Amino acid sequence: MRIATLGLTKIYDKKYQALDQLTFNVDLNGIFSVIGRNGAGKTTLIRILSTELLPTSGTAFVNNLDVVKDATALRNEIAVVPQEARPLPWLTPLQTVRSYLMWRGYSYRESKERSKDALRSLGLENLEKVKSRKLSGGQKRKLMVATVIASEAPIIFLDEPTTGLDYVSRKEMWEILSRLKKDRLIILTTHYLEEAEILGDRIMILDKGKLADIGSIDELRSKIKFPYVLRIMSDNVDINEDGVEIKRVSNRQTLVYGTASKIYNLVPYLVTNRIKFTVEQASLGNIFEQYVGEEDGGDKNEKEDW
Ligand SMILES: Nc1ncnc2c1ncn2[C@@H]1O[C@H](COP(=O)(O)OP(=O)(O)OP(=O)(O)O)[C@@H](O)[C@H]1O
Ligand SMILES: [Mg+2]
Repeated sequence: MRIATLGLTKIYDKKYQALDQLTFNVDLNGIFSVIGRNGAGKTTLIRILSTELLPTSGTAFVNNLDVVKDATALRNEIAVVPQEARPLPWLTPLQTVRSYLMWRGYSYRESKERSKDALRSLGLENLEKVKSRKLSGGQKRKLMVATVIASEAPIIFLDEPTTGLDYVSRKEMWEILSRLKKDRLIILTTHYLEEAEILGDRIMILDKGKLADIGSIDELRSKIKFPYVLRIMSDNVDINEDGVEIKRVSNRQTLVYGTASKIYNLVPYLVTNRIKFTVEQASLGNIFEQYVGEEDGGDKNEKEDW
């Protein structure tokens, strides 16, 4: 399935530029991870692609449907969990999923079966009759995901579905999404870069409303200056190698970014001095830092009026 934009721009209230001439084209089945700092424009992009928000200029196509001109047709193909979505507190999870399915046109009986299956797949079967206001934050997020996966929509938008989930629940969600992606396209935003790396068949890095890059993890890694990372578990190292970048993480760890050959030049010194170390390929987190930098201020639109 294809997602394509051409010069996609969104300016809120004539002054806050959230997307700036965004042009990209991806063709995949599976998971499309969208990452970027706070305010990079991820939610704005999701809202435009899911026909909830009109662009200021430019065009966007999902599955060859224009998000503005073919919005009605596109809405039949998609299901969305917005970033701030919460279940209605007075409904139970079963009622929540079921009413969504009935609204989408499922029969009374079918909606019940599908809802129960979806709740079970997210481990919520024991809570299906509890009022949603009694669920924890993580359980509510899971319920929102159960709601969209219960539908047969082939394209699913999930804006930060794992934010606030504990470590174990997040990994459970990864398993669910991996299973789900076999026959659907999932557009996923997340601040957990490990998640974007593990799940994403393609990854898009947004930086202040602009495309920083797009590709598989290997494609992204092949373009950066320092594709390897040496992790040194010691506070007492003396590295004098040109062309690498050294970063002290804490008093127990130092990271050295470089090319494979530069990193391996350092290994004899570490072995001789019995210093513990590991060598890894740059993670998406490392790649992200190299693309987006670490300068302060993720949100360029400094708003003074509240
Ligand atoms: N309704 C709105 N009105 C005015 N400005 C907005 C509105 N929604 C978003 N913005 C601005 O647009 C920019 C992009 O916001 P967006 O929500 O798309 O970012 P994001 O990448 O999803 O961030 P986060 O990671 O914090 O969710 C930000 O500068 C934000 O302040
Ligand atoms: Mg957002």
